[in-house]
Amino acid sequence: MSDTTTATPSTDADLFAPEVVADPFPTLTALREQAPAVYSTKYDFYVLTRYEDVRATAGDWESFTSSKGVGLTEQFNKQLVGSVLATDPPEHDALREVLSDKLAPRGLAQIRQQISEYANSLVAECVAKGTFDGVVDIARVFPINVVGDLVGLPMEGREKMHPGADATFSGFGPFVPYVMEHLPQLQDYQAWMGTMADRSKLTPGGWGEAIMDAVDDGRLTQLGAIRTVSAYLTAGMDTTVNAIAALMRLFADRPDVWNALKADPKLAAPIFEEILRLESPVVGFWRVATKDVEFGEVTVPEGSKVLLHWAAANRDPEKYPNPDTFDIGRNPLDHVAFGYGVHACAGQGLARMEAVTLLEAFAAQIDTIELAGEPVRGRNPIVRGYESVPLRVTPRRDA
Ligand code: HEM
Repeated sequence: MSDTTTATPSTDADLFAPEVVADPFPTLTALREQAPAVYSTKYDFYVLTRYEDVRATAGDWESFTSSKGVGLTEQFNKQLVGSVLATDPPEHDALREVLSDKLAPRGLAQIRQQISEYANSLVAECVAKGTFDGVVDIARVFPINVVGDLVGLPMEGREKMHPGADATFSGFGPFVPYVMEHLPQLQDYQAWMGTMADRSKLTPGGWGEAIMDAVDDGRLTQLGAIRTVSAYLTAGMDTTVNAIAALMRLFADRPDVWNALKADPKLAAPIFEEILRLESPVVGFWRVATKDVEFGEVTVPEGSKVLLHWAAANRDPEKYPNPDTFDIGRNPLDHVAFGYGVHACAGQGLARMEAVTLLEAFAAQIDTIELAGEPVRGRNPIVRGYESVPLRVTPRRDA
């Protein structure tokens, strides 16, 4: 698989082949051991897999620009031009500022109660059923309605959000069959979002209105508004969907973790951080080197595309001992599942609040939780998660 005879360590391993997507970690371990940066002959990019390198690169936007796109292909990157993800400071900071108050701790504190009530009612519905699907009935419902309500979107059309976000994420990577199969969902979602940059469709006081205000006072163009709505909607969707799906699977597999949460709901936050480290719902994004940069003995030439592999970094044994094990005591607040640097996830406070309120609702209402069928892993090459986690629960007697 590897070629170490030339000066540039390279690999012909296909990081986006279905069998590698299903279980990427053996391949990522081999790449991490091979060299700090390894050239993919198949896709023409360098991949970084070591924690320190991934973090340092994410933190150095001057040497590794996002403005040439954070996806792999030119065709996809054209769609991102001018969005918060695909700009550098100072343009980036102005775009990010549009929603910064709403996503800051003070803004989030105002919506905690509402999100917690929604989590409780959704969990109550599932507990009443006894068996349900942790992905279909919870992970794909909760973030979609939380973000949909925050943006101020009508209910009509929300069914396009998960399939559309899933298809969008897959497009960041090479155009493998999964991407092509999901093109109709992507087009449908984009057409729908295009109609949402319209005040009359949006509930007053939401993020959508804040974005339209920025258009009115000249901080954003109309296209900028669509790209901003789209960035926040998409980024807030399948990331959180898959993180929650991974939690559902965790509880069914690890009664010790579930019992610990039930006994002490304050463990919700560290449990979420550790599942983010272990599962890394977004596996990686690209940058373009603006100059030659050395990683140990490897020089990444100016103009190269570089994949920052968050999932590989989060399992670097130099950083996290026994990286493949879920360790409830680890509380890895420095993981890179939310990225790092100027582009570090703008919605991480919200994602944490969603997960914690949901886990609190689980702990308050559920006694036992077990698998009611075989979980099915997702096939998306960029977001890692599940299609289905069938669960059976019993209610807490004291609930
Ligand atoms: C568990 C859930 C989530 C994960 C794992 C996640 C992951 C990430 C990652 C890795 C990045 C870095 C992109 C880069 O460096 O190029 C990012 C950026 C971003 N995320 Fe999240 N995210 C999550 C939830 C959310 C939510 C709930 C929202 C908003 C509703 C959101 C909005 C954004 C935005 C707007 C950016 C772009 C920030 C920028 O470029 O400055 N994310 N996210």
